[in-house]
Amino acid sequence: MEMKSGHVLAVPYPMQGHITPIRLKTTLTLTTFIFKSIKPDPSGPISIATISDGYDQGCESPYTVHEYLQNFKTFGSRTIADIIRKHQTSDSPITCIVYDAFIPWALDVAREFGLAATPFFTQSCAVNYVYYLSHINHGSLKLPIEELFAFFLSVSGSYPAFLEMVLQQFTNFEKADLVLVNTFQDLELHEKELLSKVCHVLTIGPTIPSMYLDQRIKSDTDYDLNLFDTKDVSFCTSWLNTRPQGSVVYVAFGSIAKLNNVQMEELASAVSNFSFLWVVRDSEEAKLPPGFLETVDKNKSLVVKWSPQLEVLSNEAIGCFLTHCGWNSTMEALTFGVPMVAMPQWTDQPMNAKYIQDVWKAGVRVKIDNKSGIPKREEIEFSIKEVMEGEKSKEMKENAKKWRDLAVKSLSEGGSTDINIDTFVSKVQSK
Ligand code: UDX
Repeated sequence: MEMKSGHVLAVPYPMQGHITPIRLKTTLTLTTFIFKSIKPDPSGPISIATISDGYDQGCESPYTVHEYLQNFKTFGSRTIADIIRKHQTSDSPITCIVYDAFIPWALDVAREFGLAATPFFTQSCAVNYVYYLSHINHGSLKLPIEELFAFFLSVSGSYPAFLEMVLQQFTNFEKADLVLVNTFQDLELHEKELLSKVCHVLTIGPTIPSMYLDQRIKSDTDYDLNLFDTKDVSFCTSWLNTRPQGSVVYVAFGSIAKLNNVQMEELASAVSNFSFLWVVRDSEEAKLPPGFLETVDKNKSLVVKWSPQLEVLSNEAIGCFLTHCGWNSTMEALTFGVPMVAMPQWTDQPMNAKYIQDVWKAGVRVKIDNKSGIPKREEIEFSIKEVMEGEKSKEMKENAKKWRDLAVKSLSEGGSTDINIDTFVSKVQSK
C-alpha cells in the first residue's frame, strides 16, 4: 500500500478498543484527558493533536452516556474545527476526516470545510448491519430478519444508553464519501455485501501492525497508544517463552468489561485447572476470590494487570484464548491463528461469539447456566478442554490458521485490504 500526499485527520471515540484500530498515516486526535493520561511519545510515528470532549480534567461529577455524547459533540466539533483551521495555511492542509462511526457529527465538521468525510466502523460488518437494520426500524429489530441476526436481539435491549450510541452511527452515513470497516473481505463476504447495498464499504482490516502479518512496513510493530499501565508487559513475554508450545490458556476481557464477584470466582476455579495467563485489570482485582493470587503457582500460571496482547497471542506457548469477544480481540485471535473460548459480555460480543463458533468454527462458546445467568466453572473448564484437546480441537486450530492465512493475504500486495486502502488514499488525494 502506498501513502501519497493528502492529510487525514483521524478522530477515534476515546476508548482503548476504538483508538487501537485507527492507525492510518495521519494526524490522530486524542481528547485532552486521554492525551494527558497516555503522554504519547512526541517522537513517535503518529502526529497527535488534542481535542476536547468537555471533560479535560476527567470525570469530576457523574454523567450519563447521553450527556457525554452531547458534550463530546459540542466541544469536539469546535476543537476539531480549530485543528482544521490551524492546518489550512500549512504545507499539508487536512483533506479528509476519518472519524469513529460512534461520532457521526464529525461529518458535519468535515462538510463545513469542504473536506472528504469517512466514518470508520470499529466493529464487524455483521454487527454493523444489525445496527443498521435496528436504526431504520427506530431502535427495534422487526422480524422477520435472518435467523443469525435475530440471535443478537437477546442482548441489545439491555444497554439503552449504549444502544443510542451504536444506532446513531447510521444517522448520516449514507452522506459519507466512503465507509471504512475494520474487517477483511474473506472473513465477512456475505455480510460485507449486505452492508454494501446501503453504502460504499471498504474493508481495511485487520488493523494489526504489519510486522505481525505481511511484514511490509518494518517500523510497524505496535499499536503504540495504550490507556493502561504497561509495567507488567515485558514480563509476560519472557514468562511465555519458558512455557511449552500450546500449553497456556490466555484469559483477557479487553479494556472495559466488568465481571461480578461470582463470575470471577467461577472463572478462577475453572482456569486453575490449567496453565494460564490471566489479565485482571486493576479495577477488577478486588473481585478475585480472597487469597486467590497467593495460591497461583508462579511456575505454571501468571496474573497480570495488562498484557502486550499482540505479543501474547503470537507466542507459541498460547493454546487458546478465553475472550469476551471484543472485536479487536476477536480479529487479533483470528489473525494469529489462535482458537477461542468465547465468553461474551455485551453489545457486539455475543454476535462475535456466534460467528467464532458457528461461522468461522474457530472456537466454542461457553454455555450460560439458566439458573444463575452466568457460565459455571464446570462449563468453562469443559469449553477450555474442548478447544485445547477435545474431539474438534484439531479442526478449530486448523480453521484458526486458515483465517490467519486469509488475513495475511488480504493485507499483502494485491489483497482486498491493500486495494481498498489504495482506493481510499486516491479518494483523499482527489478531494
Ligand atoms: C470495546 C468493546 O467492548 C468491544 O465489544 C468492541 O468490539 C470494541 O470496543 P474492548 O472491550 O476493550 O473494546 O475489547 P477489544 O475490542 O477486544 O479491544 C481491546 C484491545 O486492548 C485489544 O486491541 C487488545 O489487544 C488490547 N489489550 C487488551 C491489551 O493490549 N492488553 C490486555 O491486557 C487486554
